[in-house]
Amino acid sequence: MITVALPKGRIAEQTLDIFKEIFNEDFQFKGRELILKKAGFTFLNVRNWDVATYVYHQAADIGIVGYDVLRELNLDVLELLDMKLGICKICVGGIKDNNSYKNKTELKVATKLQGIAKEYFSKKGIPAEIIKLNGSIELAPLIGLSDVIVDIVETGTTMKENGLEVKEDVLDYVSARLIANKNSFVAKKPQIIEVYERIEEIVNK
Ligand code: PRP
Repeated sequence: MITVALPKGRIAEQTLDIFKEIFNEDFQFKGRELILKKAGFTFLNVRNWDVATYVYHQAADIGIVGYDVLRELNLDVLELLDMKLGICKICVGGIKDNNSYKNKTELKVATKLQGIAKEYFSKKGIPAEIIKLNGSIELAPLIGLSDVIVDIVETGTTMKENGLEVKEDVLDYVSARLIANKNSFVAKKPQIIEVYERIEEIVNK
């Protein structure tokens, strides 16, 4: 039995579609069910931010998680495959047509990606105060909570509709990754390799 942690929402659905294609069985969480057992797998329906934690603690053998979260949490897990799902970028965003943030001696940065933001500005030698938010990050510069934001940009719609624009790219390729627990990878190597190879075939076809 392999336990798979999936991030609630679109990525989980797309991953279950891949399993459906591989095993020719219908994999779907019913209603608000959090555990789905089928065809030798136990799927866990968890929050995106918790997938790597489940895998790191071996509550799940493998998982699918955004590279942004993986980088941010920096947990000791194996990254097996780029799933090529949920593709986006991490950018510095700010008020459109206003670059006054560049003249600040210390920048106020709102983000949920604290570690990534901190590292980015530190490498550039720019003093930054990181303000942790959990969502609706685009609001911060609009009401003066921060000078800029560091956030995920997928279509760019959220920034555009709020009068913001991308100022700088922090990471220009972010996608969902297949990860594995290091001990599970040893203990269940043949099963994990098999599922990895079958997913890889579909993802890269
Ligand atoms: C994410 C991200 C941006 C938005 C970007 O937010 O934090 O706000 O998506 O997508 P776009 O470029 O296609 O507009 P999410 O939907 O996860 O909600 P959140 O406000 O809770 O972070």
